[in-house]
Amino acid sequence: RDLEGTASFEAIVAADQKIEPRDVMPEAYRKGLIRQIAQHAHSEIIGMQPEGNWITRAPSLRRKAILLAKVQDEAGHGLYLYAAAETLGVTRDELTEALLNGRQKYSSIFNYPTLTWADMGAIGWLVDGAAIVNQVPLCRCSYGPYARAMIRVCKEESFHQRQGYQSLYVLANGSPAQRAMAQDAVDRWWYPSLAMFGPPDTESTHSAQSMEWKIKRFSNDDLRQRFVDMCVPQAEILGLTLPDPDLRWNEERGHYDFTQPDFEELMRVVKGDGPCNRQRMTHRRRAHSDGAWVREAAQAYAEKARAAKGA
Ligand code: 3HC
Repeated sequence: RDLEGTASFEAIVAADQKIEPRDVMPEAYRKGLIRQIAQHAHSEIIGMQPEGNWITRAPSLRRKAILLAKVQDEAGHGLYLYAAAETLGVTRDELTEALLNGRQKYSSIFNYPTLTWADMGAIGWLVDGAAIVNQVPLCRCSYGPYARAMIRVCKEESFHQRQGYQSLYVLANGSPAQRAMAQDAVDRWWYPSLAMFGPPDTESTHSAQSMEWKIKRFSNDDLRQRFVDMCVPQAEILGLTLPDPDLRWNEERGHYDFTQPDFEELMRVVKGDGPCNRQRMTHRRRAHSDGAWVREAAQAYAEKARAAKGA
């Protein structure tokens, strides 16, 4: 790094190299990354709730073990991402506070209820599938700690997606009631999964700057289209239908034409008016206060260890 820190920032980004925590970077780049990485981390932690809801009700020990592993992975993804955010000079407590007081958000998708066991399959296939489409490009984001966290997250996300898809496949090929349950879950999770990619490019406040800084590598609409193109053949193999009568292959475009999600609904959910927002935040606040004794004990233990070392 030359002494002209900021000048080298442009050069490093232009050369597709990584900006590291100690590099000089524009304040807006640092703040923008804290915003995105923190909300990504919050999403992982809140995302444990909808699936955690079914751990005690999984239909077999095998399914319970798989779901337990997945929910534990999400907690780990949250920790990798909080650790990546901390390299930008923000503390874990500040990030937790920002979530609990509503100043920072989490992904809209986790404000929808998980009504049946088939939702676990639909979330794995669609929500984790969408997460993979969104997160693979982030492995090449210009900020080193975020890109490296994404590499590990994506490997685990592939397991999440495969287990969900396989679970749906079993249900779709099971009894008529199981098949109906799988179809109902896909009907409920399809459009909220499309909305996960964010508002249309024309209404995206951060995309232009985020793409210039090579944080966001593809636009919201491009990734949404990539996701639809990936899901259509997968739905055909499942023998389930995607709830969009206007979904059809467009030879000219080389993509599927599809009905956009309800972006008004997305913004309502983002602003706190989704089916489960209040429940998710109440649960998260209660978990935080229930866990206070663990944090105090860890603090006391660390102080004792420091004192013993210093003695
Ligand atoms: N949910 C909540 N807020 C959303 C959103 C969504 N689905 N989509 C967009 N927004 C918010 C943005 O945060 C921004 O608000 P802010 O300024 O208050 O932060 C506003 O809407 C405008 O959207 P932009 O497109 O301008 O914002 P971004 O450039 O940040 O793009 C994004 C949005 C694509 C979600 C981007 O932030 C991103 O790629 N984030 C990292 C990935 C992520 O957070 N995924 C969430 C799901 S985590 C997950 O799937 C876990 C898996 O295990 C299931």
